Amino acid sequence: MLASLGCGNPTALAKLNAGETVLDLGSGGGVDVLLSARRVGPTGKAYGLDMTDEMLALANANKVKAGVTNVEFLKGEIEHIPLPDNSVDVIISNCVINLSADKDAVLREAFRVLKPGGRFAVSDVVTRGEMLPEIRDSVLLWVGCIAGALEETDYVIKLGAAGFGDVEVQPTRVYKVEDAREFLSGQGLDVDAIAPQVDGKFLSAFIRAVKPASASCCGPDCCD
Ligand SMILES: C[S@@+](CC[C@H](N)C(=O)[O-])C[C@H]1O[C@@H](n2cnc3c(N)ncnc32)[C@H](O)[C@@H]1O
Repeated sequence: MLASLGCGNPTALAKLNAGETVLDLGSGGGVDVLLSARRVGPTGKAYGLDMTDEMLALANANKVKAGVTNVEFLKGEIEHIPLPDNSVDVIISNCVINLSADKDAVLREAFRVLKPGGRFAVSDVVTRGEMLPEIRDSVLLWVGCIAGALEETDYVIKLGAAGFGDVEVQPTRVYKVEDAREFLSGQGLDVDAIAPQVDGKFLSAFIRAVKPASASCCGPDCCD
């Protein structure tokens, strides 16, 4: 639990079956990978992907403590996933995609490595509707995602452009201005004046999508 820096609980919300291969994008201390490994069992496999040596070292130490063997932590970037095409059943991720400077590349790569019929099931921070850029930046800084979160409709559009179907954004926590009052006042903002710009506009959400199972579909541009 101490190694968890997420904004939701993708392993609780994603359906995982025995024997499946799971990939966690931005696995950090590895908690979600270890939980997934138990759920897919000894015939399945759980990969964690992270770009920082410190987090990979922590994750590998946690793997030893957990005593699981069907786990592998990979070093790399979620924009360039070091796994072959069509090799993963389920992609999970906990509060990481918002950090990427190239979300289209992340979603394209997720689509590429998923098997046909594979599921994308991630927790992330999203925003809802239009707002002033300075307010958006301040609140997202408080949420901890350095102003990189997507507006929820844009997330759906980008998943569709990457080739995914059955896209769904399910809010798991809706932030109120009171949640961030202390932080925002510390930033010199008149919190009561900006409340309507903040209330209900920042969300943790569970985002699901499916790579179409059709054998004739090999990517976002070549479905027939
Ligand atoms: C907010 S932490 C979340 C960690 C973990 N998912 C959890 O729930 O505890 C973000 C993690 O993503 C990793 N990360 C951020 N951007 C990344 C990228 N572009 N490629 C790979 N890893 C990335 C960081 O190194 C860090 O471990």
